[in-house]
Amino acid sequence: MKQRGTFETVLETEDFEEGFRGGESSMIESVGTDERKAEGKNFREQPGLSEIKIRAGDLNVHYGTVHALKRVTMDIPKQRVTALIGPSGCGKSTFLRTLNRMNDTIPNIRITGEVVIDGVDIYRPDINVVSLRRLIGMVFQKSNPFPKSVFDNVAYGLRLHGIRDFGILEERAEASLRRAALWDEVKDRLTKSAMELSGGQQQRLCIARALAVNPEIILMDEPASALDPISTAKIEELLHELKKNFTIVIVTHNMQQAARVSDYTAYFYLGELIEFGETNKIFTAPEKKETEDYITGRFG
Ligand SMILES: Nc1ncnc2c1ncn2[C@@H]1O[C@H](COP(=O)(O)OP(=O)(O)OP(=O)(O)O)[C@@H](O)[C@H]1O
Ligand SMILES: [Mg+2]
Repeated sequence: MKQRGTFETVLETEDFEEGFRGGESSMIESVGTDERKAEGKNFREQPGLSEIKIRAGDLNVHYGTVHALKRVTMDIPKQRVTALIGPSGCGKSTFLRTLNRMNDTIPNIRITGEVVIDGVDIYRPDINVVSLRRLIGMVFQKSNPFPKSVFDNVAYGLRLHGIRDFGILEERAEASLRRAALWDEVKDRLTKSAMELSGGQQQRLCIARALAVNPEIILMDEPASALDPISTAKIEELLHELKKNFTIVIVTHNMQQAARVSDYTAYFYLGELIEFGETNKIFTAPEKKETEDYITGRFG
C-alpha cells in the first residue's frame, strides 16, 4: 500500500486528498480496460505493459520560440527501466526534466499537457515540488557530489527532511550505499571527502544519495557516459537490481547500453516521440523506418 499512499505527501493541503485518492484508484482500476484504449492516444496500452507509473499526455515544451517537445504521449511502466534515445537536441533531457519539474525554473519555458504519476497530475498548482522531488530522484551525466564527506553526501537528503538521529542516519546511509553497490569500497572511508573518490565511485555515490530519501522513481541523464567500461558495467548491473524496487528512466547515447539495460525504449527525433515499445522489439523489429535508421547507425 506504500505506493498508493506516498504521493499524497506531494499535496500541500488535505482538502485535495480525497480527490487524489479517487484519481489514483480510478487510474489503477482503469489500467488494461477498453476504456483507455478508446482514448486512441499514441503509445498507450503497449502489449505486455506492466502497471503504469508515469503517464505523459500531450506534453509540449517551448523554450521561448523553440518547440522542444511536441505532443508527447507515453506510458512509463512501474519497476522497469525505460530508455530514452535519439540524436542530440531531440528533447530527451527536456522530457526527463518534465517528469520531476526540474524545468520549472528555466526562464521563458512554457509547458502544456500533463504528467500524471500514480494518478496525480504533478503540474497541479497545489503540488508541493519539494516533496515531489523526494519521490523522484535524479542522477546527472556529470557526477556532482557535494564537497563533503562520503557519509554527509548520503545523509544530506535525510537531514534536509528533518532526520537528526545519528543511528537512523547511519543505518539509512549504509543501506543506500549497499544498494548503490558502493558500500564495500567506501565503508572504511566514510568520513573522507567524496571528492577523493574515483569518477565511477562518485557517480554511484550520487545514486546512493538519490536512493537515501527512498524515492519511487529515478531519472538518469546519461549516467555512465563519462565513465570507463568497468564503472559503466557496475552502473548497468545496478540498474538490474534497482528496477526491482524503483521505476527508472534513463537517457543514453549508447545503443548497446539501451539494449542491455532497458525493458522499454523511446525513440525521440526533433522533439517528437517517434516510437515507443518493448526494447526487444524496438531493436529487432521497429515499426518506423526512422527508428531503424537510427538504431542501425544509418541516421543522417
Ligand atoms: N534551457 C534551454 N533554453 C533554451 N533552449 C533549450 C534549453 N534546453 C534545451 N533547449 C533546446 O531544446 C531542444 C532539446 O534539448 P535537450 O537538451 O532536451 O536535447 P537532448 O535530446 O537531451 O540532447 P543531448 O543528447 O545533446 O543531451 C534543443 O533544441 C535545445 O537547444
Ligand atoms: Mg541531454
